[in-house]
Amino acid sequence: MIINNISVAIEALNKGSIIGLPTETVYGLAGNALNEKAVKHIYELKNRPTTNPLILHTHSLDEVSKYVIKIPPVALKLADAFWPGPLTLLLQKNASIPYCVTSGSEQVAVRIPNHPVAMSLLSSLAFPLVAPSANPYTRISPTTAQMVFDYFGTQLPVILDGGSCEKGIESTIIGFDGDEPIVYRQGAISIDAIEFVVGKVKYNVMHSVVTPGMSKVHYAPRTSMFIVDDVLEFISTNPGLKIGFIGMGDDFVGHSNITFVTLTKSNDLEEASANLYQSMYYLDGLNLDCIIIKKFPELGIGKALNDRITRATFNAR
Ligand code: TXA
Ligand code: MG
Repeated sequence: MIINNISVAIEALNKGSIIGLPTETVYGLAGNALNEKAVKHIYELKNRPTTNPLILHTHSLDEVSKYVIKIPPVALKLADAFWPGPLTLLLQKNASIPYCVTSGSEQVAVRIPNHPVAMSLLSSLAFPLVAPSANPYTRISPTTAQMVFDYFGTQLPVILDGGSCEKGIESTIIGFDGDEPIVYRQGAISIDAIEFVVGKVKYNVMHSVVTPGMSKVHYAPRTSMFIVDDVLEFISTNPGLKIGFIGMGDDFVGHSNITFVTLTKSNDLEEASANLYQSMYYLDGLNLDCIIIKKFPELGIGKALNDRITRATFNAR
């Protein structure tokens, strides 16, 4: 049920139920992180391998310190700059966090979301929440309460409505090798913004092992999706195909076989990010032959958007 009433959500979570939770990035499937049954239920609902760990969500730095051994100075710098916000930090967990949250790892992923509904909920609870994106494994992450309902229906007693997610893609995940920040997942905070605070960062080349969620096929519509350089050429070499085209600015192509969706009228990458998953999801529902999209400029958040569309199109290559 999609509702606005936070006290109903609190009651459900206190009973060990799983709810749909709005955040500024994407909607999450949230449950009590300290309740192993609730955590297991999340994996079942998502049909997600239990080797793929979950992110802990809390409402303050003081809360974070209750669940980790320490917060290294470089992590603190990032926390100061971006929390609450779409940044997830990998920190050494303490004994209070069950291994089912971290898939057996000594590191726990933590973030403080910047969304009034999530904040107000988290500050009313006696426990932190784990919240993976509220989509079945490998599917497109939801950015509206309705998308969560479409995926899970009445399996969730409560889906809190927090409107359309402001950022529209997942948080940026940063881990640490001593003092050195390492990018595990590009996301809503650009790497340029991270580097502005902590200097040059490295990328985690082993992420297929350490961050199993970064599997090559992810965030994918069921309709085949392709990244194309030349849209007109694609259309002319594929006559008769019903094509969904996700574009920006003045990309519009007037053609009877094309359903065009624009991510932003003004080439604003932040706006494009906010609309990307909803546009993919919308076109996926139209029974088209394929969905095409152009690469984003490799600038700021454009790099994270390219990461997502590359994973969304992996099946199709
Ligand atoms: O924006 C977000 O981060 C959203 C919202 C709901 O907060 N959540 C989200 O969760 O994207 P999820 O589960 O869909 O993606 C979490 C990613 C996965 O790739 C997982 O493998 C990685 O974080 N991760 C979680 N805990 C980890 C850990 N202890 N070590 C390494 N990677 C971890
Ligand atoms: Mg996810």
